[in-house]
Amino acid sequence: MNILHIDCSARAGSHSRALSNAMVQKLLARHPHAEVLRRDLGLEPIPHAEAAYAAALATPAAMAAAQAANPANGGVQLSESLIQEVEAADVLVIGTPMNNFTLPSVFKAWIDQLLRVGRTIGMSAGGEKVGLLADRPVYVGIASRGVFS
Ligand SMILES: Cc1cc2nc3c(=O)[nH]c(=O)nc-3n(C[C@H](O)[C@H](O)[C@H](O)COP(=O)(O)O)c2cc1C
Repeated sequence: MNILHIDCSARAGSHSRALSNAMVQKLLARHPHAEVLRRDLGLEPIPHAEAAYAAALATPAAMAAAQAANPANGGVQLSESLIQEVEAADVLVIGTPMNNFTLPSVFKAWIDQLLRVGRTIGMSAGGEKVGLLADRPVYVGIASRGVFS
């Protein structure tokens, strides 16, 4: 079993980090041989999608050309390695604060690198977008100042 453990707070001793750690410990108690892969978006933010990456996303031909020229071209390599981390995970555990009624931008940067037409988003015969990543449990621990139910 592989656990992908993601944190989004910029604070090392954060509440959401304590929460996600506790969730991972609970999973490890049930699955002692599980492997844990850390992706700390808060303390080690990934780059936002860059212009070259956006250009590569424009068409399948542009993506193929970017990758053929250089796998690192346009940030495709980073996107690919982040996608592979999710693909390899049986369970995701995400710790995040609420920032201004939404998620920290580091988490949105991760989503932007993860969701890519032709790779993680496909098209149905009727032209509807469909997710290509297999479904799996995702546990989200959110810390906020306010109380939300
Ligand atoms: C920039 C910023 C925006 C915030 N926005 C909200 C908010 O909209 N609602 C809320 O309840 N708390 C908000 N908070 C408070 C945090 O969610 C709260 O302190 C949380 O415990 C921080 O999580 P952490 O300890 O994991 O960093 C905000 C904090 C910061 C720094």
